[in-house]
Order: sequence, then structure tokens, then C-alpha cells
Amino acid sequence: MPIPPLAGLCTYEEAARVGVSVDDSVRFLLRLAWIRKRAMEMGLYWLNSTPQWEVKEALSLHLHLDAEHVGMLRRRISEMRNPPPPMDEPPSEPLEAFLKELLWAEQTPERIIGVYGVLRPAILEACWAHDRSLNPLVAHPTRRMLRIMIADDEQTARWGEQAVAVVTGTDESRRRASEWTAHLDAYLTAAGGITGDDDAPAGDLPAARAGAAYQPDYFPQRDDRFVLRGNFVFPPHEVSREDQVDVEEKTLALMCKRALEMDVPELMAPMITEAANQPWAFTTDMCRQLWDEARHAMMGTVYLQHRGIDWKRKVPLHPGASIRLNMHLDPLEAHAVLYAVEQALMPAKTGKRYEWATASEASDALATQFQDYDWADEVLHAQIGKRWLPPMLDMTKEQVLDLGHRKAVETEAHLANYADPDEQINWWPDFVREVLGRETRMDPTKSGIGDPVYHKDQME
Ligand SMILES: [Fe+2]
Ligand SMILES: [Fe+2]
Repeated sequence: MPIPPLAGLCTYEEAARVGVSVDDSVRFLLRLAWIRKRAMEMGLYWLNSTPQWEVKEALSLHLHLDAEHVGMLRRRISEMRNPPPPMDEPPSEPLEAFLKELLWAEQTPERIIGVYGVLRPAILEACWAHDRSLNPLVAHPTRRMLRIMIADDEQTARWGEQAVAVVTGTDESRRRASEWTAHLDAYLTAAGGITGDDDAPAGDLPAARAGAAYQPDYFPQRDDRFVLRGNFVFPPHEVSREDQVDVEEKTLALMCKRALEMDVPELMAPMITEAANQPWAFTTDMCRQLWDEARHAMMGTVYLQHRGIDWKRKVPLHPGASIRLNMHLDPLEAHAVLYAVEQALMPAKTGKRYEWATASEASDALATQFQDYDWADEVLHAQIGKRWLPPMLDMTKEQVLDLGHRKAVETEAHLANYADPDEQINWWPDFVREVLGRETRMDPTKSGIGDPVYHKDQME
């Protein structure tokens, strides 16, 4: 048995077969990069208005993967063609028309069916077909990139199949799904498919649903399972830092704080979509952070679930921060608030190190693990903030911090307009009694004072 030739990529015979040319490959990769960019934007545009948390979790992951894949595609295209072809314009009008129809999907079922029932399966099939059509030796860098994307896409497809099955569980929903699928299929076929190479039959398309300009709705929605979503009182902020509170109770508070991070991806979405003239690295950095924030919320929910706590019912996982930032600040001001928050998490005595040490002192292995990785992510987030925001605002770091602090205080007052006074209840003492089987060590008069708008007395 000889040592395999050609680094084990293929046989001499396979390497001697003529595959797709550089020109044709670049043309496909350009379309793919554009389609994935649009898919990422759909995730960002829909994140707030999609109420189901499980869908927000998946959108957060998939838009991060799309951003990464677009970055890989852009780099590969630039390796093959100098100067690189323009990558920020639609490669064809019919393709753009299809993507626009998909963006106009109404409500969660149409969004899931469109992206996970129509778009992503077509992308996956086109990537496999392109992979097979390439010469395995000469096009190795392209094939390697495609295989990485395909591995991600196949995992995405498994989520998508199950989600589609759930939203097509009744005869009526199946009927509507097949109408919507037929509508989108007609537009995709007219575009020549993902590759643009399929036969596009002449003939009329169904009437377009898309209007001239898409208006994203950035108001954060939570579904009805989050029964306390209108209660903006959140004592864990203070509990986790109060000297008189023991580490066990502090750790519980920290895990509630992690779960509350559900609205960080929501408030990051407009910072990405509305940013003008930034290089793609900005998008990949910000989408990575968005996904990290979604994972931080997941860490909290996993912890609470693991302890048998009905967190959707018992913890007021309100979207207060995303309401404040999305409804009352422009995206750059909102970004400055996020920047100020992230930088404040770095000091050892009060920030992420303190949170990790608290969980560790409580000998809580799961909470320690979560805080450990949360801290690691935060190191990256502080760097991302420093890298992009001061130049975007043309300010020094100190000026950005000052702006962030000012805007954070300004928007606190707005939250009162969204709060039903009857719902603003300090739930912490009952919660601690139920979970820890004892009274809270938190001074009840101090609860919520850290953020005046969360304090019931001030709302009456
Ligand atoms: Fe976070
Ligand atoms: Fe963060």
C-alpha cells in the first residue's frame, strides 16, 4: 500500500477531471454571499418582532453563522479576483425580488417557512452541487470553505425541519404554508434558482407583496408564556451586589440576570442593521456578540430550568432595556449605552470577575461554569466596543462613556410610560422563599432603588 498522493485529497484521475472555471465559481460565490447577507438581515430585522424565545435563540445563532459565512466568501472572492468584484450590490434583480418577497413574510410561521422551508434548503443543495462540480485539487480552498458552511447549514437544517413541522401542524396552517411556499418558489424559479443557472420560465409572477422600502419593527415582543413580562422591577441587579446578601442568594440573582439578557440581542439588532458604511468585520464582530448575548440568556434559563424553576412564569423576563434603547435612542446613542455597560463589567471588584468569584464561593459548579464563560465573552465584547465605536462616533473613549452614561439615565424615565403600575411588584422575597426555602437577606426597602424607574414607590 503506497503513501497516498496529492495530500490525500483525491486520486490522479479525479484531479485530472476539468471542473468549474474560476469565473463561474466566483459568480456563484458572489450570489451566495449576497443571499446569505440578506438572510442575516432578515434575522436582524425580525428578531424583535418575533415573540417566541426559541425562534429568537435560533435566529441569533443563524444570523451569526451567516455573517461568518459572508466574511469567508468575501475573503475567498478577493483571493481569486483582483480587484474584487463589487460585493455590496445585488447580483441580479430577479434574485433581489425573491429575497424581498421573503423579507415581507408576516408573523412567525411565514418567516419560518420562508427561511427554513424554502431559502435554506435551496442554499444547501446549491452548495453541495457547487462542491461536486469543482476540481478537488485546484479548487481546494473553495471546497474547504464550502464544507465548513455545509456543516453549519446541516445543523441549521435540522432545527428548521422541526420548526417547519411545528408551524404546519394543522390543515389550515398547511394550506397557508403551501400557498406561501408556492409564492416564494415562483420568485426563486424566476431568478434561476440560487445559482441563477436554472431555467427561468417566462410568464407572470404572482403579485408582489413587497413594497418600496421595508420598515423593520424594533419593538421587542415576548410571547404570552412570559406572564410577568410587563413587570420592570428586577431586584437581582441590586441583590447580586449587596454586602448583606450571602453568596447562595447572590448566585441565584446572577443567574436571573443572565436570563434577563434576552433583550441584549434585541437591542443590538438595530445597531447592526442601521450602521452606515462599516466594513464587513464590523458586522461579523457585532453578530458574534449578539449571539453571545443570546447564549448568556440561555445560560440563565438552563440554570433555572436545571433547578426546577418555572422561569417563564416566575421570573419577570421583561424587555425593558431593548424598549428603552430601540424606541428612544438612535442606534449610535444606543451603542454608546451598550459600550458604557460593557466597560463597566471589566473592573475586578464589581464586574465579571466578581460574579465568577461569587458563584465559585457558593460552590455552585454550574453557575461558576456559566459565569466563567460569560466573563470570557465579556473580555471580547469590551474589545469589540473599543475597536468600533469611538471611530464611528469620532469621539475619544471618555466621550463615548460620557454619552453612554447620559443616554442610559435619560431613557430610564421613558420606561415608566410602558409600565402598568399594578404590575410593578417586588417578586424577589417570594421567589427566594420558594427556591431557597428561606427569607431573603435583601433589605426590601433597597430593592429596585438602583434603577428608580423599577421602584414601585416612584411609579405611584
Ligand atoms: Fe452578556
Ligand atoms: Fe456582553
